[in-house]
Amino acid sequence: MEETRVVLDKAGEFLPTSARAYEAVGGYTGLRKALADPDQIVEIIKASGLRGRGGAGFPTGLKMSFTKAAAADHKYVVCNADEGEPGTNKDRVIMEEVPHRLIEGMIIAALAVGADQGYIYLRAEYPHVKKVLEKALEDARQHGFLGTDILGSGFAFDIQLFIGAGAYVCGEETALLDSLEGKRGEPRVKPPYPGVAGLWGKPTLVNNVETLANLPAIMEHGPKWYRRLGTERFPGTKLFTLSGNITNPGVYEFPVGVTIRQLFEEVGGGCPNGKRLYAIQTGGASGNIIPASLLDTPLDPESCDGVGATFGAGDLMFMDETCCLLDVLENLTEFFVKESCGKCCPCREGNPQLLHLVRKFRHGTAQEGDLDLLVELGKAMTVGCLCGLGQMAPNPILSVVRFFPQVFAVNNAYAREVS
Ligand SMILES: Cc1cc2nc3c(=O)[nH]c(=O)nc-3n(C[C@H](O)[C@H](O)[C@H](O)COP(=O)(O)O)c2cc1C
Ligand code: SF4
Repeated sequence: MEETRVVLDKAGEFLPTSARAYEAVGGYTGLRKALADPDQIVEIIKASGLRGRGGAGFPTGLKMSFTKAAAADHKYVVCNADEGEPGTNKDRVIMEEVPHRLIEGMIIAALAVGADQGYIYLRAEYPHVKKVLEKALEDARQHGFLGTDILGSGFAFDIQLFIGAGAYVCGEETALLDSLEGKRGEPRVKPPYPGVAGLWGKPTLVNNVETLANLPAIMEHGPKWYRRLGTERFPGTKLFTLSGNITNPGVYEFPVGVTIRQLFEEVGGGCPNGKRLYAIQTGGASGNIIPASLLDTPLDPESCDGVGATFGAGDLMFMDETCCLLDVLENLTEFFVKESCGKCCPCREGNPQLLHLVRKFRHGTAQEGDLDLLVELGKAMTVGCLCGLGQMAPNPILSVVRFFPQVFAVNNAYAREVS
């Protein structure tokens, strides 16, 4: 099955860091159109139906309109390139292969909302991406795409690269802003939202790498062209990360609405060594784990919600018949215990208790009532935690309870055998 490339269009066909090489394949055309009529950008993005690719799917044009409307002496555009979700590698591919498309998208976003400074918050674990971005940013400056008078328009905007310190929670937009301000990265209480009071209290547009990298094509070809791909409620393409027990792991771009089966069979080549597919974790480490019987689910937020899957940032981790889901849940919950920032009690105390209970099932020592406790605690965390980390940490467990209840049998013989 052929990919449909919008964000990764021409990737691999030119020197990624070169602004001129990017221009030669049509790059920076969207920016030139945006510069001709900056006031129209927000309306164009609204009409395209673009929604955030960082996991929450918030309408991008609407988010832009809040920052545009906010009056301030300085406004910021912040690119969330933290990509800390285990099983997600799509932003890395964009930044390595088409860094100027991200830079172009950030300039368009800045024009749209009236920002004069941009930041890329890059995860520390991507040293190669850091080098690529540094080179691309410098080249963009040298060729007049960044600086005090962009392409002779009088518009001033520059982008600074900021390297995180390796905390998953700093992908949450307000923790990210605290970290950028030099503080310990902890989520803020919302509202106020970053769009009106973000970095140093100023209106700040925070968007994911992939979201921003969609802006140039929308500006170049128009919202109608963009809407021909994807679904009515989630137009465009999506970069999907396939990992786990799959023959061809990797990052692939397809229209939103492609089915999990198409990606698993036609792109991923199925499980290696003829093994049978058992389960799929959808939407990253904090996403739901679903059975192979749901392979025909279309990948868009509405269809995923309808069957109990997670769309998230488009991650799919495949597990074959040899996989023990209790091992998986133990591993994931250990991750959340470690990554909880500790600011709020339901997450700080809840995750270790979830882990304790999962381990009881894993070691075959669970008693009557432990499953009820696990579910009650998980549900309480989804509503009681301050940020998405704690709210979504119980998702894998609750989805396994729903779809694979046999795993939690109190006298699970398999769990005893492997402990
Ligand atoms: C624990 C946690 C981690 C997150 N990590 C990321 C991340 O690495 N990258 C990202 O773009 N969004 C991440 N998000 C979502 C951001 O808070 C925010 O919704 C997103 O950057 C908005 O951009 P978008 O509208 O373009 O999707 C995370 C959220 C939570 C709760
Ligand atoms: S939910 Fe967890 S990560 Fe989020 S603020 Fe509370 S303790 Fe921190």
